[in-house]
Amino acid sequence: MKPTVAPFPAARLRRTRKSAAIRALVSQNGLTPSDFIWPVFLRDGRDVVEAVPSMPGVNRLSVDKVVDAAREARDLGIPAICLFPYTDPAKKTKDCAEAWNPDNLSNTATRAIKDAVPDIAVMTDVALDPYNIDGHDGFVENGEVVNDRTVEALVKQALSQAEAGADIIGPSDMMDGRIGALRAALESAGHQNVLLLSYAAKYASAFYGPFRDAVGASGALKGDKKTYQMDPANSDEALRLIQRDLSEGADMVMVKPGMPYLDICRRAKDLFGAPTFAYQVSGEYAMIAGAAERGWVDGDKVMLESLTAFKRAGCDGVLTYFAPAAARLLNG
Ligand code: PBG
Repeated sequence: MKPTVAPFPAARLRRTRKSAAIRALVSQNGLTPSDFIWPVFLRDGRDVVEAVPSMPGVNRLSVDKVVDAAREARDLGIPAICLFPYTDPAKKTKDCAEAWNPDNLSNTATRAIKDAVPDIAVMTDVALDPYNIDGHDGFVENGEVVNDRTVEALVKQALSQAEAGADIIGPSDMMDGRIGALRAALESAGHQNVLLLSYAAKYASAFYGPFRDAVGASGALKGDKKTYQMDPANSDEALRLIQRDLSEGADMVMVKPGMPYLDICRRAKDLFGAPTFAYQVSGEYAMIAGAAERGWVDGDKVMLESLTAFKRAGCDGVLTYFAPAAARLLNG
């Protein structure tokens, strides 16, 4: 569509900006707490609220505390909470068996939340990195992150999450063929209503640093993730990945990181019209929260502006560590 603009003075475009009332009337995109998925970090123990130093305002929570967080989310109107376990280094192994332990931290938290706050959607993460002695999302054999054997393990992990009551499963591993394999396994295990939110376009990004600290993966990771996560220089490839994952049975797709990749969000939404999410990742959060802490930017305003930008770029929702703070502001 080519915008046509009448010549001045017939068109004074400032007219539609003249007052708060008129601006509200012509506003194209809005933000509500129902746009958010709140990612939370889990930790062993009871009554634990442990600060993540590189993410001011974000804590690792024990299961009892994450149940409180789920209640808070529900009361704020946030529809979903996403669980990321911090794994004790002693539980990281070469075979990653903790990933499909029915009683691992993520599954225990899922059951506790679904018991206490059944109306909130629980999203879980499928990838081996929290449990892998090599720190990678897949098994490492002879220095290579292997695809097909990893997919078999991801299936076991996802089934244990569905069994625990997860509503949305988020494969963040970037292996080929995992969406099809997960969808088939969920169907045959009677979990046909479990949603798959595929991290379809996930970039090999330097913005994940604080997250790796938060889940205790920084020390473990050998090398980088460039053989499976995308090159930040590419965009057509993101569309091929999204198309592939939708055709294999993904219900929703994700672009990650968020703010530096709004062009991908827009192209994906325009082309496929599928439910599209962005992950405003840990490094994006840290930049805003860190600058706000120093008084260099107005944290609340920058937060809401950054979240509105996702909606403008075509996203239906955002995974954001700001979810509770933004919801509190939006609820007035
Ligand atoms: C790994 C995973 C990562 C994030 C979510 N899942 C990090 C990575 O790929 O190394 C990052 C999220 C964030 O930075 O907030 N499966």
